[in-house]
Amino acid sequence: MKYRIALVLTLSLALNACGNEESKSNKSGENNVNNVNNVNNANNANNVNNANNVIGDVTYWGDIAPIIEGRCTGCHTDGGIGPFALETYADVQPLANLVEQVVSDRTMPPFLAQGDCNEFEHDPTLSDEQVELVSAWVEQGTPEGDPNAKGEPLPAIEITGLSRIDRTLTMREPYTPRNEPDDYRCFVMDMDIDQRMYVTGFGVDPDKDEIVHHIIAFYIPPEDADLAEEIDAQEDGPGYTCFGSPRVGNLRDTKWLGSWAPGGQAGDFPEGTGIPIDPGSKVVVQVHYNTLGSDPVPDQSSLAFKLDASVEKEAEFFLWANPQWLGGTMPIRAGDAEATHSFGFDPTPFLSGGRPIKFYDGFIHMHTLGKSARVFIDRQSGDEDCLINIPNYDFNWQQGVRFKEPKTLQPGDRLVIDCMWDNSQSNQPWIDGQQMMTQDRNWGDGTNDEMCLGVLYATFE
Ligand code: HEC
Repeated sequence: MKYRIALVLTLSLALNACGNEESKSNKSGENNVNNVNNVNNANNANNVNNANNVIGDVTYWGDIAPIIEGRCTGCHTDGGIGPFALETYADVQPLANLVEQVVSDRTMPPFLAQGDCNEFEHDPTLSDEQVELVSAWVEQGTPEGDPNAKGEPLPAIEITGLSRIDRTLTMREPYTPRNEPDDYRCFVMDMDIDQRMYVTGFGVDPDKDEIVHHIIAFYIPPEDADLAEEIDAQEDGPGYTCFGSPRVGNLRDTKWLGSWAPGGQAGDFPEGTGIPIDPGSKVVVQVHYNTLGSDPVPDQSSLAFKLDASVEKEAEFFLWANPQWLGGTMPIRAGDAEATHSFGFDPTPFLSGGRPIKFYDGFIHMHTLGKSARVFIDRQSGDEDCLINIPNYDFNWQQGVRFKEPKTLQPGDRLVIDCMWDNSQSNQPWIDGQQMMTQDRNWGDGTNDEMCLGVLYATFE
């Protein structure tokens, strides 16, 4: 049981969203270096020939606009969350090299999990052929083609949404972000139910989506409800600062109800499952505002829940990390560009009373030095069954992914998480125009700390 408590404790630490703009600009610096390589490769005669042989003449309106309109303009529109519009040839053409780079290295459209590991619902990842089309277009000199002969846009990613909305919780008052460019703020909301219910679906309606970058909803059990209000009351203005966890006591019982990042989908939880909530409980929502691309404006975002009085199976967001890491046994040495930690274990004797555990969706949480990560089941047979693989981790795009088919861990299998960080000097954040010196890091919930945590929506079979 001790083991379980330690794992549950990680929740409190895990939800520390500690992005900062410095590390972001550093990352794009890195991308620019890649860009140079990509351009060189693209100019390589073989590539050009191959591309032309297979693909033929490519034009903006005929071939590229359909991709951009299907996968990019949802964010890259005037007033959208993307830093610039990509709506016309005049918008896209001057950025052609950058566009080619981000689609080739698969940073755009943002979706961190890789399809060769597992199959996911709502996966917007471009096919290799689509990426090759973009490269060929750049190699051929970005021809415009005929605006009247525009190709069909790619079919939009199917939006399932919530099948029913039973409760909408809105921030009590609008809040205008004060800390620029990143403001992490928690808002308390009342669940307002008179009997035990189950959350069976979750969605977010960001009010000012040009500044709302990330939302996490936590369940605050009835015994901690007053404390949540007290913490809120201690600070001026709507809500309170919560850089990491919701800061409400008895963190062992703080549960995750859902999360959202741009492009994220509202949806029902897997059929027959739900997360229990009790009368008198609250929801604390942590909103990460980013005002890099837009001026701060009053925001009053809301959450939508589907609720049911009963479910076939209770579910929870199951946290996977080495409990010992919390005690400072996850050293990431200064200067180490490929620091790794790994943890694997059969959790069934401790967590499910020996029953198999079924995983439906999830994500991996690290902080800003995170480079890559993977969660998989190491089967007793020796086979590996991959759940989530993130080859290019990006703190700003953490988002839950739903598996097309649930994966079941059987007693005797091990659940494994691998994480890698880049703690080299060149990957250090910039603060006030100065790059920080690389330093030893370890598990923790501050900006200078790191994590390696799998969060998986699970039921016990
Ligand atoms: C879900 C929203 C979203 C979608 C969809 C999206 N982008 Fe972006 N894009 C962003 C945001 C936000 C940024 C800036 C922050 C970042 O890079 O994470 C960005 C940054 C970029 C950049 C600048 C990268 C740099 O290093 O400076 C390019 C180029 C880009 N996107 C192109 C695209 C293309 C091409 C597509 C479609 C294939 C696309 N984006 C789809 C949100 C999106």
